[in-house]
Amino acid sequence: MDEIVVGIDVGTTKVCTLVGRVEEETIRILGVGLEPSEGIKKGVIVDLSAAAQAITRSVEKAEQTSGVEITGALVSLAGAHVSSINSRGVAGVSGEAIDEVDVERALDAARAVAIPHNREVIHVIQRGFTVDGQDGIQQPLGMHGYRLEVEAHIITAAQATVENLRQSVGAAGVDVLQFVLNSLASGDVVLNDTERQMGVAVCDIGGGTTDLALYVDGNVWHTMVLAVGGNHVTNDIAHGLRLPVSQAEEIKKQHGYALKSGVGAEEYFKVQPFGEDQPAQINRQDLANIIEARVGEIFGLVRQEIKRSGYDGLLPAGMVLTGGTSALPGIRQLASEALGMPVRTAQPENLAGLVDQLKGPAYATSVGLLQWAAAMTLSNALPGRDRSRRVKGESRMNPVKDWIKRLLP
Ligand SMILES: Nc1ncnc2c1ncn2[C@@H]1O[C@H](COP(=O)(O)OP(=O)(O)OP(=O)(O)O)[C@@H](O)[C@H]1O
Ligand SMILES: [Mg+2]
Repeated sequence: MDEIVVGIDVGTTKVCTLVGRVEEETIRILGVGLEPSEGIKKGVIVDLSAAAQAITRSVEKAEQTSGVEITGALVSLAGAHVSSINSRGVAGVSGEAIDEVDVERALDAARAVAIPHNREVIHVIQRGFTVDGQDGIQQPLGMHGYRLEVEAHIITAAQATVENLRQSVGAAGVDVLQFVLNSLASGDVVLNDTERQMGVAVCDIGGGTTDLALYVDGNVWHTMVLAVGGNHVTNDIAHGLRLPVSQAEEIKKQHGYALKSGVGAEEYFKVQPFGEDQPAQINRQDLANIIEARVGEIFGLVRQEIKRSGYDGLLPAGMVLTGGTSALPGIRQLASEALGMPVRTAQPENLAGLVDQLKGPAYATSVGLLQWAAAMTLSNALPGRDRSRRVKGESRMNPVKDWIKRLLP
């Protein structure tokens, strides 16, 4: 197997293009193009040409480091315009045993729910099946039965917003093969199979968005995008301590702590405010106080969202935190207290090749896109599969070897 896969994570703070080669045990990173984002706010493009330029620079960098010409890629999607619903579809089984066509027909019926004309369907994920009244079936292929029902989770996004993103990526000479919701790409990378089976939440806190996905019984049951993230924390620090935003960002990363109680009352550090001769002393607890207030608020929203989903009792494996903001020391404890569940932080692991730049939780989405691309390549290689209609209910591939096992009948 020697497949080249490409993912472009268009985030609020960075654009990260990765070129990888699918190997038996892992994905080898061949090229990395990391560039600061421009023209993107809260996960949404607000300036087409600025965004297109940032994406182009990132793509060119990845092309240079990998020596691969990039013509198509999987692209991440986030923003408050994304929404999701659960739906049910039914199909009569055409032959003796249930085959892929039957599953596709049931999924088509599920997606036929009223979706407004200005929204685009991004994912149709199979959550579980019922065959002749017997529910709880995870893989119906090959089973005997007359009536197949599917429970689907359907993720849609505002068509105009998606089109702007497609256009910006297109301006870099790249076709969007598929959009992948941030939290689903990240979830692929940071969750393990046991957690997914038990019930777990993945929460990717980036710069402009907080992306949440709940997995129950091995599948995605609920997704949500909140338009808050680390940039809000930085802005609060800038306001609270009267510093320029760039400096606030710096001290957040250098001295930040998510819990006020985690730093000593007498801890001080120095900053050099612009236009001043003397460095200023800042109390680290004051900084932690500002951070705790905002990050605590984000987890309050996350908690509300989990409660509203109705699946709050179904997450014994707790929450896995990722995204750049989860690098904040103390955030695990804050989250665990605010949510009342076990929390761990996670970042991409088990990669080969150019991995130095990809250390840290900010790269979970980028690496996740490569894993999706690899899974797509594998499933497209199967007879009877059509890329445009491919439904990715079985996207839990870690490590790569498992993908093949799961995708091949
Ligand atoms: N060590 C750190 N401590 C605190 N915050 C950090 C640290 N490292 C990165 N961050 C924050 O992480 C955020 C960027 O995260 P990430 O790269 O995941 O976002 P993004 O993917 O660009 O944005 P989004 O997914 O929200 O569109 C920034 O707000 C940055 O300040
Ligand atoms: Mg992100």
